[in-house]
Amino acid sequence: MEAKTKNTNGRKFVARVNELDPGTTKKFILKPGGNAVEAFIVNCGGTHYAYLNRCRHIALTLDWVDNRFFTEDGRYIICANHGATYEPKTGECIWGPCLGAFLQPVVLEVAGEKIYAVCPETLDD
Ligand code: FES
Repeated sequence: MEAKTKNTNGRKFVARVNELDPGTTKKFILKPGGNAVEAFIVNCGGTHYAYLNRCRHIALTLDWVDNRFFTEDGRYIICANHGATYEPKTGECIWGPCLGAFLQPVVLEVAGEKIYAVCPETLDD
């Protein structure tokens, strides 16, 4: 299910600061270059990161089960397609078919209690 979000001054509200527990994620939609693309925000140890929901192996979404991005031990982001495993803090693939590649990051900005995503201008290859 897509998270409820709205655009505000070119940024998109994606979550409240205390909304996501550590180890949880929330999906939202961005439109880099005008094309709707899923993205997700991660709370990793109390710090938030966000990435486009596109594996670097093949341009498929990472989650087969909606909004399930973490490995069972909660330490890494995993692609359900072929098991590429990513560091949640950097987006780097540390195991799997795209070893060394990075998830495309989404810049987050915090204003008061709200977290906004800044849409990338383009999609990486
Ligand atoms: S599409 Fe993600 S590991 Fe193959």
